[in-house]
Amino acid sequence: MLSKGVYVLIMHMAMVALLLLLAWSNAVIIVDGYGGQCSLNPTLDPRPHSVSILEFGAVGDGKTLNTIPFQNAVFYLKSFADKGGAQLYVPPGKWLTGSFNLTSHLTLFLEKGATIIGSQDPTHWDVVKPLPSYGRGLEVPGGRYQSLINGYQLHDVVITGNNGTINGMGSVWWEWFTLHTLNHSRPHLIELVESDYVVVSNLTILNAPAYAIHPVYCSYVHIQNVSISAPEESPFTVGIVPDSSNNVCIEDCIVAMGHDAISLKSGWDEYGVAYGRPTENVHIRRVTLSAFSGSTLAFGSEMSGGLSNVFVEHSHVLDSDKGVQFRTTRGRGGYMKEIVISDIQMDNVYVAIAATGHCGSHPDDKFDPNALPHLDFITLKGVIGRNITVAGSFAGIEESPFTNICLSNITLSINSISSAWECSNVLGSSDFVNPEPCPELRNPTNSSSSCFYLLSTSGRKASAL
Ligand SMILES: *[C@@H]1O[C@H](CO)[C@@H](O)[C@H](O)[C@H]1NC(C)=O
Ligand SMILES: *[C@@H]1O[C@H](CO)[C@@H](O)[C@H](O)[C@H]1NC(C)=O
Ligand SMILES: *[C@@H]1O[C@H](CO)[C@@H](O)[C@H](O)[C@H]1NC(C)=O
Ligand SMILES: *[C@@H]1O[C@H](CO)[C@@H](O)[C@H](O)[C@H]1NC(C)=O
Ligand SMILES: *[C@@H]1O[C@H](CO)[C@@H](O)[C@H](O)[C@H]1NC(C)=O
Ligand SMILES: *[C@@H]1O[C@H](CO)[C@@H](O)[C@H](O)[C@H]1NC(C)=O
Ligand SMILES: *[C@@H]1O[C@H](CO)[C@@H](O)[C@H](O)[C@H]1NC(C)=O
Ligand SMILES: *[C@@H]1O[C@H](CO)[C@@H](O)[C@H](O)[C@H]1NC(C)=O
Repeated sequence: MLSKGVYVLIMHMAMVALLLLLAWSNAVIIVDGYGGQCSLNPTLDPRPHSVSILEFGAVGDGKTLNTIPFQNAVFYLKSFADKGGAQLYVPPGKWLTGSFNLTSHLTLFLEKGATIIGSQDPTHWDVVKPLPSYGRGLEVPGGRYQSLINGYQLHDVVITGNNGTINGMGSVWWEWFTLHTLNHSRPHLIELVESDYVVVSNLTILNAPAYAIHPVYCSYVHIQNVSISAPEESPFTVGIVPDSSNNVCIEDCIVAMGHDAISLKSGWDEYGVAYGRPTENVHIRRVTLSAFSGSTLAFGSEMSGGLSNVFVEHSHVLDSDKGVQFRTTRGRGGYMKEIVISDIQMDNVYVAIAATGHCGSHPDDKFDPNALPHLDFITLKGVIGRNITVAGSFAGIEESPFTNICLSNITLSINSISSAWECSNVLGSSDFVNPEPCPELRNPTNSSSSCFYLLSTSGRKASAL
């Protein structure tokens, strides 16, 4: 069987002969595999029916609560699901609302100048059960506030616009979080659960209470040309969180958040292990990311269902605490493997590349301390960093060291005299990396075992051909 890594090889090594051979016989790998996800452009046929939120009595004065108009409009548009679907049009104005649900075959379209504003009254947000792969609310045990725009078991949903805005008005939630006065875990702005064929595009998303976009247990998710931001000091705000989801594309987005910009997750300790749904086949390209207190590209720390086949390319990371970070801890189980990060420019980042096996808390005391996570086959290549303080910080787990870390063609300008690399319980190889990595990452170049994209050629290509 052809490995998904072969696609990466094709993309990056430009082995023309191989490409020709594979292109004919295995077009399917591009669909099925590593990073082809963004090449599957969603077809956005216009919906045959469209109604304006005005027809449901909505008032766009920024003061009138429009939860009922949104709920009624969606209820009405349900009847068009088997007639090609419908569009809910939101004209210019300030549309205050509490949380509402979407339906299948629906396009929510926010016109230029239209802003959906999240109510700052928690009673306008329903409380729902915790996600099964987390077992409890992330921040407060028990239930959690439902997201502002919520989808559950839907197909073919588009949230888009002509650069309309969704403003979560997160400041009150950040304050309650900081003061520990939340009654339930904070809501996200857009959450889709157990849904497929989801598009979020051409929007501006501001001030999420917690996460801005959270696809969980979803397939075929395309997030394109979305600008997401929250203030630097907003506590633990995250831009895009693909969570136990597969076949996800994130492209042409600008994300600047208090904590992480993009964070890939898959459940928490024993709950995530039991649920057993990985995040896989994720392609991220042409994104510009800032993360004030966390990481621009974070993997974990909740990763108990596994994270694999992730391809990040041609992106810019700036003004952040950490660039790329893998986080996990004992008790998580799961894995993070077969991840390729390529052609990244980093500016003003404190730690460029980090991996830690000692990060994150547990949902309760029922986790299995012997459930050791695995980090294996991670390739970073083509990274240029300016004004970096720490080049790499790797702290693996003694009984489960991080292995097959491959660093190639990486040049980081370090602004300090501190030791550029910190390494423990990690093994890997490096090639054209400056400053020179720690000895653990300078194994005799047995690249065939260390570099994920090379492994695919030597190991599995032969049988495919
Ligand atoms: C919205 O969907 C959730 C499931 O995610 C459900 O529990 C809730 O009852 C729905 N709310 C409305 C108003 O339909
Ligand atoms: C991105 O969104 C902006 C504003 O809505 C629009 O002008 C532009 O054409 C979009 N670009 C792409 C590539 O869709
Ligand atoms: C989109 O809207 C945001 C906020 O209203 C604005 O700052 C930004 O410049 C707009 N982008 C484009 C491409 O029009
Ligand atoms: C928490 O619940 C109590 C009791 O219902 C209520 O008085 C308080 O306003 C709530 N706090 C928040 C931040 O929602
Ligand atoms: C985004 O907007 C641009 C410009 O209007 C349009 O061409 C494109 O199809 C839109 N893309 C998506 C995915 O909505
Ligand atoms: C260098 O990066 C740090 C963040 O690590 C930032 O605080 C500082 O302002 C940057 N220096 C310059 C000259 O941009
Ligand atoms: C090294 O990385 C830089 C930056 O991504 C890229 O421009 C260059 O082509 C790479 N060189 C090789 C030999 O791959
Ligand atoms: C290189 O890695 C391969 C595959 O893991 C292994 O079989 C081989 O013995 C290694 N060679 C050296 C010199 O370490």
